Amino acid sequence: MNVRESEQLMVDLRSAGHEIVEDEKEADVFILNTCSVREQAEIKAIGKSGFLARRKKHGTNFLLGIVGCMAENLGRELFKLNPKIDFIIGPRRLNELKLVLAQPFVDHVLLLGDGKPEASFLSNHDHSSNSANAGVSIMQGCNMCCSYCIVPKTRGQEIYRPIGDIVSECRSLVDSGIKEIMLLGQIVNNYGVGQFKIVDQKSPFVQLLEQLDRIPGLARIRYMSPHPKGFRMDLIDAHRRLKTLCPSVHLPVQSGSDRILRLMKRPYSRERICSIIKALRDKIPNVAITTDVIVGFPGETEQDFSETVSLFEDIHFNMAYIFKYSPRAGTVSAGMLDDVSAQEKDQRNKILLDIIQRDSLRYNQAMLGSVVEILVEGHAKRGDGRLFGRSANGYKVIFDGTDADIGKFLNIKICDYGITALYGNCV
Ligand code: 5AD
Ligand code: SF4
Repeated sequence: MNVRESEQLMVDLRSAGHEIVEDEKEADVFILNTCSVREQAEIKAIGKSGFLARRKKHGTNFLLGIVGCMAENLGRELFKLNPKIDFIIGPRRLNELKLVLAQPFVDHVLLLGDGKPEASFLSNHDHSSNSANAGVSIMQGCNMCCSYCIVPKTRGQEIYRPIGDIVSECRSLVDSGIKEIMLLGQIVNNYGVGQFKIVDQKSPFVQLLEQLDRIPGLARIRYMSPHPKGFRMDLIDAHRRLKTLCPSVHLPVQSGSDRILRLMKRPYSRERICSIIKALRDKIPNVAITTDVIVGFPGETEQDFSETVSLFEDIHFNMAYIFKYSPRAGTVSAGMLDDVSAQEKDQRNKILLDIIQRDSLRYNQAMLGSVVEILVEGHAKRGDGRLFGRSANGYKVIFDGTDADIGKFLNIKICDYGITALYGNCV
């Protein structure tokens, strides 16, 4: 989501006559787009803004802005922490940044809260790269109230873009060479709920997927993230029916313990998670399932944690993001005792990491010798000039290629594997 927002800012600023520079030392305006989900993300951003402020003190002149969730979360407090910050803009007011920069800069600017809700929709894309993937935001905000999560505070209530706007944005992306689209939202399967009609027992999200599936030239659709609560048969069935919908699902489960799920205010049970995943696996060949999980939530006992371990052992996720619980001021769980020690959180993190690494390795090993169709995304990080792409079910494949391969579908024969990637050659 943040990458998508940064892209939109970049395009907005370019169209207002600004230039994006590669070297931060050349910038007249420095904008930090920030995250608040865990304390560590905020500490990093505050550290970076302190580093930049010292440069300003030593005579280099530029405007320093903090935008995104941390801007919303800490607000005016940030001016106190770092008086060299010039502007603070929350995620729902990012569209106003170009206006802020268009005026002579007089004093600290603080833009928080709702603004004009529809104006926060993201619809501008950077067409200057040769990539064939694009993210498309379908909604803003989150109506859930997970007890640990700061997002409803920073991003506000859900608002949905009209289906027609999303479809025409995707059509024009395809016209410009995009082949794969990732639909983005805090809870994509809540898209349009209560606002757009259910038709033939299909949710608005599934209706959107059906319309996108009909766009000629669009090869792949992904989405991130759904919530287990609204993950119903119509969506599972859409995976089977719609040829463009990729067989990969990122389903954040957060915990395997029903007691902890209740404390987290996640309105589903472990049994429900297992039945969704079983239905996905029964209906969709080769489906890859990934998840998010939090370890060390307040009151998480050895017994609760062992239920998350057993969920991992039962399900065998393809991959998981494991987060150590971080109390966020203003959330419900910040009022609970953060009683799992840092050492214990590390230990639990490591136990799940070991399981997920073993499972990922096994999934990747099973691909040895097979030929996989990938869409080439770009240069692999630390890939010694090699390229990478992804299979329809999201496996990362690294291979030797040329820049001309970026954005193309290629068949790769897999000859090696690691925990996070497969390696192969073009056939
Ligand atoms: N502490 C740790 N992890 C968190 N997440 C959200 N809030 C917190 C928190 N306070 C994790 C959840 C979510 C992911 C984006 O971040 O697992 O799915
Ligand atoms: Fe946060 Fe829960 Fe909303 Fe996800 S569903 S953004 S975890 S409140």
